[in-house]
Amino acid sequence: MAEVISRNIGPVILLGPPGAGKGTQAKRIAERYGIPQVSTGDILRENVQRGTELGVQARSIMARGDLVPDYLVCDMVALRLRNADCQRGFILDGFPRTAAQAGWLDAFLENEFFDNSHRGKCLPIVIRMDVDYNQLLLRLTGRRSCPTCGRIYNVHFQPPRVANTCDVDGSQLVTRNDDREDVIRERLTAYELQTRPVVEYYEQKGRLVPVNADLPVDEVSEQVFREIESHSTAAAGRS
Ligand code: AP5
Repeated sequence: MAEVISRNIGPVILLGPPGAGKGTQAKRIAERYGIPQVSTGDILRENVQRGTELGVQARSIMARGDLVPDYLVCDMVALRLRNADCQRGFILDGFPRTAAQAGWLDAFLENEFFDNSHRGKCLPIVIRMDVDYNQLLLRLTGRRSCPTCGRIYNVHFQPPRVANTCDVDGSQLVTRNDDREDVIRERLTAYELQTRPVVEYYEQKGRLVPVNADLPVDEVSEQVFREIESHSTAAAGRS
């Protein structure tokens, strides 16, 4: 375990439709490997809550289930990835989401992340999380989260011990604004139209690793850890 923790993991990209379990798995990867979760959705929601300029621009777009413009999201990601805590690796949860974002990320990594021999040399591992459509609807309508610690629950699949109360800190759980059925359908459509090309982009580059994310959370994690470890071992062997 210590050996796994100290290794350069490099960028881990989690691709998948809304409700695929990206946030759930990102938290587990972050805990296991000691690298940060960079969730564009979480950063945007935090900006909306704080009423920043970015939050004001993003608020109504997110409420409709549309995507926030690329230039806003890319600037936000660049700022976060330049933090020292990303040097051994990081998990991108919800980014890239358009072909333009994927092209931008490749250029950013080439110019800024791989420019220094002290930094992680692993190419990104791109994990595609595959889930059945009806299961996605159940996961999204049943999702509740803790506003204090961020822990994610599901009334159908991972209920808290006491109804509507966080197991960790006792906070009242909340439902996300965009987890209403009409908005969920918009988000799923945005995924098909705008994010499907990103899947194809990485597929053509031979970098895509599919994972069966229909399984229970622990079984999905096992697959994800296995793939990350074999990717970073192969990269270590090449350096
Ligand atoms: P974002 O926050 O990224 O939302 P999303 O992609 O729609 O994904 P979700 O967070 O809904 O789902 P998830 O895959 O993380 O699933 P989770 O682990 O929570 O984006 C929100 C909005 O921000 C976008 O609509 C857009 O407007 C904007 N935005 C964000 N990034 C952007 C970008 N790059 N460009 C432009 N705009 C951007 O799990 C879901 C539920 O299922 C939970 O209840 C969980 O407990 C449960 N669950 C998870 N895994 C399992 C399992 N294996 N079995 C059973 N239940 C499970």
